[in-house]
Amino acid sequence: MSDELKRQAALRALAEIRDGMIVGLGTGSTAAHFIRELGGARLKVAGIPTSEESRRLAEEAGIRLTTFKEHPRIDVTVDGADEVSPELDLIKGLGGALVREKIVAHASKRVVIIVDESKLVDRLGQKAVIPIEVIPLAVPCVLLLVQQLRGEARVRERDGLPFVSDNGNSIVDWNHGIIDDPTTLEKQLKAMTGVVDSGIFANVAHCAIVAGGQGIRKLERA
Ligand code: 5RP
Repeated sequence: MSDELKRQAALRALAEIRDGMIVGLGTGSTAAHFIRELGGARLKVAGIPTSEESRRLAEEAGIRLTTFKEHPRIDVTVDGADEVSPELDLIKGLGGALVREKIVAHASKRVVIIVDESKLVDRLGQKAVIPIEVIPLAVPCVLLLVQQLRGEARVRERDGLPFVSDNGNSIVDWNHGIIDDPTTLEKQLKAMTGVVDSGIFANVAHCAIVAGGQGIRKLERA
């Protein structure tokens, strides 16, 4: 999977942005391309970042930042994804920013997903695990609950230590396998005490810009 494809998808997403817009800034290597390109485009926008990393990148790129207090509604959010289904349901969160990404996406009038074609799957769960952000105290309980349902789950680590999200929480990666009904599974996970949210984003994306060897395609949600 080429970084150049990610950059092309990011560049195309710039066409969605106009002066005066409040823009949600995603997290990950593809979203990082978008943040840099947006900074370079010198549009008069204000950004709301989905992670501390994206905040840092946006500041470096010279993008003015704002908050939900000033702007509780976002015009358009541009973010990456780990898997995209034909219905444009998503798995996100391999970068660990899923909670802020979901808050920003749900506050957005339009959500544009930028990916290279390796992220397209017939059904969610084909390749990616489901990241679940969990209050640290509840991690053993959530591990037990999800493994009783199906598959294997483990606590995410980084450099041999438990990964800590920007919100101070842990991430449980659940190897669920194929997801038949993303909407129901997303609700089921959200209902578990101790779970902050999961990386299943059902019915959130309005369109996906997909860069591949044959060019760029834009998929709109039906
Ligand atoms: C971070 C995310 C990212 O958008 C997702 O992991 C895709 O990242 P990349 O563009 O680096 O492949 O959800 O939490």
